Amino acid sequence: MKRPSAQISAVGRSVPARVMTNYDFAAIGIETTHEWIMERTGISERHIAGPGETTCSLGADAARIAMKRAGVQPGELDVIILSTASPDRLLPATAVDIQAVLGATRASAFDISAACCGFIYGLTIAEGMINSGAAETVLLVSSEKMSAICDWTDRATCVLFGDGAGAAVIRRSQKGRGILSTFMRSDGTLADLLYRPAGGATTPMSPAVLEARTHLVHMAGREVFKHAVRSMAESAGRALDLARLNVGDIDLLIPHQANLRIIEATAKHTGIPMDKVYVNVERYGNTSSASIPIALDEAMQRGLVGEGSIVLMVAFGAGFTWASSVVRL
Ligand code: ACO
Repeated sequence: MKRPSAQISAVGRSVPARVMTNYDFAAIGIETTHEWIMERTGISERHIAGPGETTCSLGADAARIAMKRAGVQPGELDVIILSTASPDRLLPATAVDIQAVLGATRASAFDISAACCGFIYGLTIAEGMINSGAAETVLLVSSEKMSAICDWTDRATCVLFGDGAGAAVIRRSQKGRGILSTFMRSDGTLADLLYRPAGGATTPMSPAVLEARTHLVHMAGREVFKHAVRSMAESAGRALDLARLNVGDIDLLIPHQANLRIIEATAKHTGIPMDKVYVNVERYGNTSSASIPIALDEAMQRGLVGEGSIVLMVAFGAGFTWASSVVRL
């Protein structure tokens, strides 16, 4: 097994108080049923941000919990990395808003855009910075207000997503704990299968864009499904190989929580039984990059894993991006 250089010292999560169930879609004129959504996705409810709840506020709340558990003060943070597909503003990075709210005056802060893979991409960057000596203490936040970027008139997408944030404090490895492997890939030729067509620099926001709703998430669901299953299974195997471990060494698989059927197919292809797979998609929906740290925090709080446990994390998302990591907690 590889000697780790950086470890996840502590994690935290925060989700909006407001819960929207599958039955609540009728009230906003969406033609769907609880049965359809459950059968296709395994999602029963999701948390949706209320007034004043933002990508920054959710991320900062999750960060405070992780920092308290790690015993880290805001002034000790060297770097704040925020992964998000739903930044509060396009400029500047929402990470600097989190920095300001936390009072992390010594830190540098920046956003990364890797969709649902953001937490694992961020983990890889944090590990590299610690390894190179560029940072001692990194705060990695994955925060999403997906409700602000999904199309609430499109039943094929709006039922899938939820809001929430997870955060991790990453420091130099101690006692063999840490990141044993990371694996990242992307394929930009498939970008148009899951994207926001307009609203950026190519097609800036305009009345026409607003009317066509092309500034919101568009997705070719079946294509995404197919690629997600294939890429997540491949990623799981690659992270295990890089860590020189076998599936039998894994205490818990934490897949990106997009859809129960994708999770089950990933587990099956990887050869990990479902009783070793963490699933909470039924209560949160797809919270994009926040889904893995939210699940990791829940699994730790429930005592399913703890110090010394070996966890495999696997994600797939827009880009397409796919990524995986094995950590010893
Ligand atoms: N309620 C009822 N009917 C619906 C709904 C809904 N919410 N959404 C779509 N339908 C209808 C469609 O209109 C279509 O009707 P039609 O046959 O009369 O035209 C029918 O259901 C079938 O539509 P499909 O899109 O082909 O349904 P599919 O079986 O592919 O399921 C789903 C759709 C659930 C989106 C599936 O493709 C999927 O899970 N894809 C993966 C997408 C995903 O998880 N994306 C998240 C982002 S990427 C990531 O995080 C991995």
